[in-house]
Amino acid sequence: MQRFKNKIVVVTGAGSGIGRSTALRLDAEGAKLLMVDINEDQLESTQSMLKNNESSSHVVDIASQEKIERFFQDLLNTHKKLDALINVAGVLRFDNSHEVELDNWNKILDINLTGTFFMCRYALPLLLESKGAIVNVSSTAAIGAHAWTAAYSASKGGISAFSKTLAVEYGMRGLNINCVCPASIETPMSSNPHMPKDIDTRLLKKIMPLDGVNRSPDDIASTIAFLASEDAIHINGIDLRVDGGLLT
Ligand SMILES: NC(=O)c1ccc[n+]([C@@H]2O[C@H](COP(=O)([O-])OP(=O)(O)OC[C@H]3O[C@@H](n4cnc5c(N)ncnc54)[C@H](O)[C@@H]3O)[C@@H](O)[C@H]2O)c1
Repeated sequence: MQRFKNKIVVVTGAGSGIGRSTALRLDAEGAKLLMVDINEDQLESTQSMLKNNESSSHVVDIASQEKIERFFQDLLNTHKKLDALINVAGVLRFDNSHEVELDNWNKILDINLTGTFFMCRYALPLLLESKGAIVNVSSTAAIGAHAWTAAYSASKGGISAFSKTLAVEYGMRGLNINCVCPASIETPMSSNPHMPKDIDTRLLKKIMPLDGVNRSPDDIASTIAFLASEDAIHINGIDLRVDGGLLT
């Protein structure tokens, strides 16, 4: 399948996990990628795995409006168009809610929610020209209840909510804006999370996969590729759970 041949696609969080798998999937389908991450070494590793040598890597902190504005200026100057934006970058930590420190609350909201919004804000004028797509990676934490993730759940709930606003506001002008809500995917984020002390282990069941199996980030990348492609032309404003039935 070459659904992204001649398409310019931005992927954030491309240095690791779901973002890297998404970059590799889109690369295999012919995309010319602009990959964004805060981690230069990881981003270089992803770049070295790509087939398309016209793709590029950009070290950008998505929490910085100034850096994102500059990134999109450069993109416009170099490529003149954008066909899809995939927002994957994010951070997670678990805390008892009564112990969440303001710095950690702000960091999670700044990166996950405001960073995703900044990316959309600057991409929208270009995507309106191309009648393109946005796929935002939210989480089952936006839909169901997860213990110890007050800031993370608030950030993902925000992503799912504002994505629907964009879907309604720009859908009739040819844009598709959807969220993917994963759970239980084997990545550096999920493999060794910071946990609070003395947790009630009964609550762990609410964030564990039903069949006890964590899936590969490739299983999210395939869904993201579908939603970003013309195959999903009549899908707009959804939260697509890819969670092995966790919330069913
Ligand atoms: N792994 C799961 O089970 C799971 C479940 C639900 C949702 N998600 C979401 O999927 C997305 C990807 O998670 P992952 O599991 O692949 O994690 P990961 O930690 O492997 O990858 C996250 C990437 O985001 C980048 N990043 C972090 N802060 C950034 C910033 N300020 N600017 C630019 N890049 C930044 C990191 O450097 C990293 O490369 C996240 O939004 C996460 O919330 C993951």
